[in-house]
Amino acid sequence: MFKQTGATLWFTGLSGSGKSTLAMALERALVQRGHLAYTLDGDNVRFGLNAGPKILTETRGYSEDQANRFGLGFSAADREENIRRVSEVAKLFADAGLFALTSFISPYRKDRDAARKIHDQNKTGALPFIEVFVNTPLDTCEKRDPKGLYKQARAAVATGRAAGFTGVDDPYEPPLSPELTFDAAAQPVEQGVELVLGHLEAKGLLT
Ligand code: PPS
Repeated sequence: MFKQTGATLWFTGLSGSGKSTLAMALERALVQRGHLAYTLDGDNVRFGLNAGPKILTETRGYSEDQANRFGLGFSAADREENIRRVSEVAKLFADAGLFALTSFISPYRKDRDAARKIHDQNKTGALPFIEVFVNTPLDTCEKRDPKGLYKQARAAVATGRAAGFTGVDDPYEPPLSPELTFDAAAQPVEQGVELVLGHLEAKGLLT
């Protein structure tokens, strides 16, 4: 008998904060316990559903005009649309009974609030939406810099060019009342997994 209640776990934080590492570890822990769980992040979404114009022209045969209309980059409007599409997909996963784990910077409070609203207003009933703030300090994220993007962004800004990079010359609006907060610089990932599992347990979502 299939008894799982779906939910979305929304991980938000700076690039390099450790949100995908935490989401993936949690996905493994949930699956090991017999739950269905799936992580959406930049690696599987920004190369597919929300690919940028370059990918769309080079690999999907889009005209330049189509690619510019439907492809997404990192302007405020494109980030908003990225988060809107991800929210809709996560809602469908949660409605189907899965744990949807989303790992996106999602820098704007209004976009994360809109994601929550999409879950609240689900046609077959409100779906649990749990915001997890991965609150790793900027200097730690910048020291890690796994893709060298902070370095590139700082170099651009130093020569007077705009980088549009979150935390450097683009804003990150921290959540005001997230369900959970985790500092990946100060706490091991296992502690983050336990924190989230404990919350799901307390909410009766690990039946
Ligand atoms: S957003 O803001 O939620 O739409 O961004 P997201 O889809 O999570 O994508 C963030 C990853 O894309 C890389 N990247 C950038 N991040 C921030 N600002 C700019 N301008 C940018 N350009 C590329 C970056 O590697 C992010 O990686 P993560 O996975 O967050 O570390």
